[in-house]
Amino acid sequence: MTTPFQPGPAGTSGPARQDGSPGAAPAEASPGGSPQPAPGRPVLVLHGPNLNLLGRREPEVYGHTSLAELDALLQRRAARYGVPVECFQSNHEGVLIDRLHQAPGRYLGVILNPGGYAHTSVALRDAVAAIAGLGVPVIEVHLSNVHAREPFRHRLLTAGACRGVISGLGVTGYLLALEGLLALAGLAPGPGAGTAEGP
Ligand code: DQA
Repeated sequence: MTTPFQPGPAGTSGPARQDGSPGAAPAEASPGGSPQPAPGRPVLVLHGPNLNLLGRREPEVYGHTSLAELDALLQRRAARYGVPVECFQSNHEGVLIDRLHQAPGRYLGVILNPGGYAHTSVALRDAVAAIAGLGVPVIEVHLSNVHAREPFRHRLLTAGACRGVISGLGVTGYLLALEGLLALAGLAPGPGAGTAEGP
């Protein structure tokens, strides 16, 4: 089954809302009060600075797939599970943080490529920690293997607040992160299903 691709508000792709807000779904409180993953709730894919240039930017490092192509791949993969995907890119730290703050009660989980902010932003890490504490799993993705690059890329401030990190697998890393989030939510079997390695 596939869902139609609809452009959303500026910088966003995913189900469009009449009020221009990203796909909101009603929060479901657990007995502890934190929001729970709910079928039908979208996955948020958050791309940080310079990723708007994907496909043209240092293709020997980041590949030839454009951001629009990557977003479409993720939407198609998630559609297999009936899950919508909203994709958003910003070059601005505060905009990324605002978008993370919208996640509790609204998104199943977040796939985050913080770009260079991964190495510098305490504020972005704090935002990830805040929403993780409210029940939203975040998986950090880097197209390149940051640990095989310059030393300043080896320190990942955001990663420690994330549920998981994938680095160096290019576009495949995003697809694996999506499968991981869906497996965490019980919407996809996951590669380790039924074993001790299951999420
Ligand atoms: C990146 C790695 C970062 O070090 C870099 O600043 C980026 C892209 C990646 O996807 O490999 O902008 O996050």
